[in-house]
Amino acid sequence: MTAQQGVPRPDEIVDFYDLAGPAFSAVWDGNFHLGYWFDENDQASIPEATDRLTDLVLDRLQVGPGDRVLDVGCGIGKPAVRLAERTGAEVVGISNNQGQVDQANVRAAEAGLAGRVRFEYADAMAQPFADAEFDAVFALESIIHMDRPVALAEMARTLRPGGRLVLTDMIETAPEGSDEPTVAESAFGATDFVRLPRIAAYRELLPAAGLEVVELLDITQHTQHTMLRLGPDIAQVHAHVQERVGAAADELLKRVMVSISGAARIGYMIGVARRPR
Ligand SMILES: C[S@@+](CC[C@H](N)C(=O)[O-])C[C@H]1O[C@@H](n2cnc3c(N)ncnc32)[C@H](O)[C@@H]1O
Repeated sequence: MTAQQGVPRPDEIVDFYDLAGPAFSAVWDGNFHLGYWFDENDQASIPEATDRLTDLVLDRLQVGPGDRVLDVGCGIGKPAVRLAERTGAEVVGISNNQGQVDQANVRAAEAGLAGRVRFEYADAMAQPFADAEFDAVFALESIIHMDRPVALAEMARTLRPGGRLVLTDMIETAPEGSDEPTVAESAFGATDFVRLPRIAAYRELLPAAGLEVVELLDITQHTQHTMLRLGPDIAQVHAHVQERVGAAADELLKRVMVSISGAARIGYMIGVARRPR
């Protein structure tokens, strides 16, 4: 198992979410991931479009009442609560940001689901769970921050034989061998996001973690619209962050804007895998 180059230190990710999290949740309505748009004329709101992407992931888990599901990199818990409400499954969510975990537990309690949905602080790359503890595992846009081989091996370990893993990831779209800078180089650098893989890399990443590939779906055409929609809300994000950290807001805004300017070229995928019996 090799460590990826350009993987952010865990404390860098926590800093990013501590700063940007409250601002993003104000404009993003609780889902910290891209939206799914049918086409460029689709007038769906950000909450509608981000819930659509959540549902594409949840439907692929194929779980029901009595199943135990792990949400890796749970944000503030909106997808996990939605899963419990829609399927009757029990959900455990983990994040390496304590503020998110606290907010997510409040969300579960407010939904009357505290007995069936709980969130805890944990590192996805060193999970505090036994082997084969979960019937299904999902990771909605969280692997972008992780060392992929290490994180996938942990997800495979805690999944029971026959169980499904469903994840989404940002992917590289620059043609292979071209002189174009990769999306990762032009948009993110190495600070907040790990270098992006091509979708084909998952044909090796998943088996290397001991998983069988079930589906690799490129939905780039449906997610690229999200950052354009966010554009007008950036002033609101800036105002929120400035209120909390003053001048440091400018640095964050610069990072967000660099991401957005590169976002037109970020690809996006859903991956489904199964742990062999
Ligand atoms: C883009 S957000 C997605 C959140 C959530 N899945 C959603 O869709 O709303 C990425 C999440 O991954 C979490 N994360 C990043 N690195 C992590 C790690 N090593 N262990 C656990 N969580 C991590 C972040 O704290 C954040 O909650």
